[in-house]
Amino acid sequence: EFPLPIMPVKQPLTTYTNPKTGVQVDFYEIKIKETTKNLFPDLGDATLIGYDGQIPGPTFRVPKGRETVIRFVNEYYRRSAIHLHGSYSRAPFDGWAEDTILPGQYKDYYYPNTQSARTLWYHDHAMGITALNAYSGQAGFYILEDAALEASLDLPRGSYDIPLMLNSKRYTSTGNITNESAETISTYGDTPSVNGQILPHFVVEPRKYRFRVLNAAASRTFNLTLNVDATRENKKFHVVGSDAGFMSKSVETESLVVAMAERWEIVIDFANLAGQNLTLKQSNCFIDTNYVGYDKVMQFRVGNAVTSEVGNGPLPDKLVDLDLPAPKTQLDQNFVFGRVRGDWTINSVTFSNVKNRILRNVPRGTTEMWRLQGGGGWSHPVHIHLVDLQILSRRKATQNSAFGRTEVTPYEAAALKDVIVLGNNEAVTVLAKYAPWDGVYMFHCHNLVHEDHDMMGAFNVTALSD
Ligand code: C2O
Ligand code: CU
Repeated sequence: EFPLPIMPVKQPLTTYTNPKTGVQVDFYEIKIKETTKNLFPDLGDATLIGYDGQIPGPTFRVPKGRETVIRFVNEYYRRSAIHLHGSYSRAPFDGWAEDTILPGQYKDYYYPNTQSARTLWYHDHAMGITALNAYSGQAGFYILEDAALEASLDLPRGSYDIPLMLNSKRYTSTGNITNESAETISTYGDTPSVNGQILPHFVVEPRKYRFRVLNAAASRTFNLTLNVDATRENKKFHVVGSDAGFMSKSVETESLVVAMAERWEIVIDFANLAGQNLTLKQSNCFIDTNYVGYDKVMQFRVGNAVTSEVGNGPLPDKLVDLDLPAPKTQLDQNFVFGRVRGDWTINSVTFSNVKNRILRNVPRGTTEMWRLQGGGGWSHPVHIHLVDLQILSRRKATQNSAFGRTEVTPYEAAALKDVIVLGNNEAVTVLAKYAPWDGVYMFHCHNLVHEDHDMMGAFNVTALSD
């Protein structure tokens, strides 16, 4: 009944030249503030906290090669920290959980924007209250664009390039969000939303579209399928991008697992479906609690006319050459994501354990192979800040368990990632080059409840000695 909201594109307040680099800098300002939003027409409003009071926050569209400075002004009464997820930000601008913006204060974050074009997102990262802040609405898209590359691949662009922020929350009988983020296990939510709207529909032309799918939920993993309403058949689509931007090739699939903080860019071709409706559905993943009637995420309504053929040509099979880390055969580090006496831990350490939380030192520029082992009877989407990772293998963490996949999915295999999905009882080996900056960075489970309670650690990228 409700159209899909498309978030406004944020405009800079001013532009200047970086005296050191000669590069153009766009300066923006975002206010963190409370807002109300009506989500159920027959109920009252929900009280939320959003960037510029918007849920989701405004979308940044940043051309690669321009720098940005974003001033985040905290006009709410809780602490905030801002992480630009997917950016190799310098450590002071990476949203370190204890580097919070207090109520009434602001912080200017600087972003270099020199990575490959990709779909990033900015969200809260404040120590111990990330789930609460993000669940209340503090998340937005930040799209790094490379116009020449996108034109050369001739993918759908402009009004055919649509960000979709998935979420899953619970609501009270008066229309407010529940305070489930006070949980210590998981905040699954029983009501999906897209771009802040519950069960929206999107009117499309019978042609190709590119959707940038982000799972911004606190604890819910989605396994997506696309169902043609009239025939109940699943429509296949192509996965073309992920956390680090375009994949090496497009991968056709009938279903797509999107865990928390993962970005997957898909191309759906609605040609031959004029006049039809399709439903984006989700089914249960791992051991997430599911709810009756929960399967519908959003609807596509296909019109009859195509107004532009831009990016509507054949989808290329080969996309880009990935910037893969140098191959390596020896494991450098094993990390166990588990549970010790009610705390979520990495190698039995919590982030609050300040003396022990730096779990690895890596000389800058070194390529390392890490094994990420899931435990505690849960799934854990692990986010490693700063780097893009290549997934080498996935195995059962313990052999005699019924749980655990033993394969890297075809779309994961063609991508570079910054979120690594460890399904229940899975161990995944990843490779990354720890560069380009020195500094202490976080890595953690992106189930925000696990992150807050306290499945987060740090690694120290150390300066090179001469
Ligand atoms: Cu998307 Cu450390 O977070
Ligand atoms: Cu977890």
